[in-house]
Amino acid sequence: MRRLQGKVALVSGGASGIGLASARRLADEGAEVVLADLNRDGAERAAAEIQGASAELLDVTSDADWQRVADAVAARHGRVDILVNSAGIVAFGSIEDVSLEDWRRTMAVNLDGTFLGCRHGVRVMKATGRGGAIVNLSSVSGIIGGHNIAAYNAAKGAVRLLTKSVALHCARKGYGIRCNSVHPGFVETPMLEAVVNQGRNPQDTRAKLQAGVPLGRNAHPEEVAAMIAYLASDEAAFVTGAEFVIDGGVTAM
Ligand code: NAI
Repeated sequence: MRRLQGKVALVSGGASGIGLASARRLADEGAEVVLADLNRDGAERAAAEIQGASAELLDVTSDADWQRVADAVAARHGRVDILVNSAGIVAFGSIEDVSLEDWRRTMAVNLDGTFLGCRHGVRVMKATGRGGAIVNLSSVSGIIGGHNIAAYNAAKGAVRLLTKSVALHCARKGYGIRCNSVHPGFVETPMLEAVVNQGRNPQDTRAKLQAGVPLGRNAHPEEVAAMIAYLASDEAAFVTGAEFVIDGGVTAM
């Protein structure tokens, strides 16, 4: 399928996991993709293997970085049609034991990063007058709570509602810019690997996670990328302010 032929896509967190799988999928469907990440080397290595892709250094918590990267992509490609806000981190801790530092860092990357991405995405998409599509990575943790992820819950819940606010603003203004959130369950990426490896017995931890999923397994990043590609495409022209769960049935219970 070449649903994204002629489109330009910017993917934050593009060096790894869901961001990387999305960048590959968007490129496979015809988009020119820019992978933006704090991990510049990783983004450059990944871009080198994707047809027509390039890399940018981006700290999503920095307004100045977003300004520079969004402007550079718009200048180089003449437009930005798709923004995927995938950069994210997870920190563990209940309301009693999460450190203020972890709370602030989790909020800064997951929430401020998405806020700034949406703001600069709207700015450059609006400038072309051709509309666009923004996809924000929330999580099932943006819908249901967990006892030991207070900061992550709060940030991802906020991303869910921020998405709706962005969508409604853009609709009201007639920009033709759609904004939707994606809510994965456990996805086999380096982030999940790090979570699993924190447990005393990683194999046991992984088995426990999978046992809690009605479909009995974790997602592959490519499965999330397929949903993102749909939301980025014109096939989703009437879809905005909506939340897309991809969790093997976890939130159905
Ligand atoms: P990952 O750890 O594989 O990739 C995250 C990427 O974000 C990395 O390349 C990292 O360098 C980049 N990054 C981190 N901080 C950054 C910053 N300040 N500026 C720019 N880039 C930064 O993680 P994964 O699994 O691909 O996660 C992607 C998104 O999906 C995240 O928002 C995560 O919260 C969300 N998610 C992941 C799930 C999972 O099970 N893996 C489940 C639900 C949501």
